[in-house]
Amino acid sequence: MSVEAHELPLHVERDQFDPPSGISALRDRPGLERVHDSLGREAWLVTRYEDAREVLGDATRFSNARVPAVPMPGIDEEQMRAGQLLALDPPDHTRLRRLLTGEFTVKRIRRLQPRVEEIVTEHLDAMEAAGPPSDLVTDFALPVPSLVICELLGVPYDDRDDFQRRASQQIDLTLPMEDRGRVAVESRAYMSALVDRAKADPGDDLLGMLVREHGDDLTHDELVGIATLLLIAGHETTANMLALGTLALLRHPEQAALVRDDPDAVAPAVEELMRFLSIVHAAVPRAVVTDTEVAGQPLAAGEMVLVQLASADRDRALAEDPDHLDVGRAAAPHVAFGHGVHHCLGAPLARMEMATAFPALLRRFPTLATTTDVARAEFREGTFIYGMRSLPLTW
Ligand code: HEM
Repeated sequence: MSVEAHELPLHVERDQFDPPSGISALRDRPGLERVHDSLGREAWLVTRYEDAREVLGDATRFSNARVPAVPMPGIDEEQMRAGQLLALDPPDHTRLRRLLTGEFTVKRIRRLQPRVEEIVTEHLDAMEAAGPPSDLVTDFALPVPSLVICELLGVPYDDRDDFQRRASQQIDLTLPMEDRGRVAVESRAYMSALVDRAKADPGDDLLGMLVREHGDDLTHDELVGIATLLLIAGHETTANMLALGTLALLRHPEQAALVRDDPDAVAPAVEELMRFLSIVHAAVPRAVVTDTEVAGQPLAAGEMVLVQLASADRDRALAEDPDHLDVGRAAAPHVAFGHGVHHCLGAPLARMEMATAFPALLRRFPTLATTTDVARAEFREGTFIYGMRSLPLTW
């Protein structure tokens, strides 16, 4: 059967808070859509919630390891995959993930809360002392999760300018592959030096723990891969949720007031913001392991499937009126943290950071408002993770 592949705006355009309308419209069409990914490769696009869960939830039919690696100049494929949980299938994936799960349990993360509250307070104090206007991205949304992941992992916060720049370049889909390859090499070299340092003198942090307790089971490249992934995933994602989530709340003052004034409203509000904003908006890839079908669509072994999380999270099967933000609704399920064996390892940490930061920010500045109409340039398009480059606020 020959099927025409469509060119779809898979991750370059987004309408502020909403997935591209072209993609959302596909949910109502039967089967799956044939598309090209950002590198021009053909793939099947999954846009509905139940189909997304089916694909992400079955690592025997849908593989991460078999997704062809994007060649990056200067870095060989084996090295690029080492320690990268998202590039592995069970049992290799299970072996590495098991070493980390203990550090990210809800109970473990709860112990970090007092320190996260302190970090949030210090940044709010600095904003207040400097006075309005303030750029929420540079003054709060980016530094708070960056400092948290640095302390957790054992990465010097003084190096933030460099690792933040590298992280945002690595997920920038508009950069030429040579540049992304060069930055990936730089990231690994930086982390490799930190791993060497931890081996020589393991600290009381996650890197120290990995070296001390699992140094014999993990190769140097695996340690570098794990730590690099945690550093990037640990700040890029949460930072964008904090900025975009704040703007979404400011657009709905009654919902912002609920988050500010009712502690019981905070956890469901975080889930609704996660669902509504679904910032991992480039479709996540899987490779078909054996001939199968999804939504009645036959899929051949070796074909690629792309799961559009942002579209799945706006499925009418999930929530009434899914295109509206309603932090007061009974929390709707979502796949904004993924699903299945690769479900976000850092979800408990990200949830705790957001549940701490949003109400603290809104309580400190009850009159918080955008300084002008937020321009299109202030939204981050063309990157794997959606969000904001800047968010000028006053109070
Ligand atoms: C995986 C989203 C915060 C570490 C994922 C996946 C998603 C996601 C969608 C699955 C991707 C796939 O299946 O292809 C988010 C969002 C966050 C967030 C929206 C913030 C709001 C964090 C934080 C950390 C983290 C704070 C680390 C401290 C990871 C890791 C994986 C992952 C290590 C790979 C898990 C595996 O393959 O087993 N995340 N994440 N994330 N995330 Fe997050």
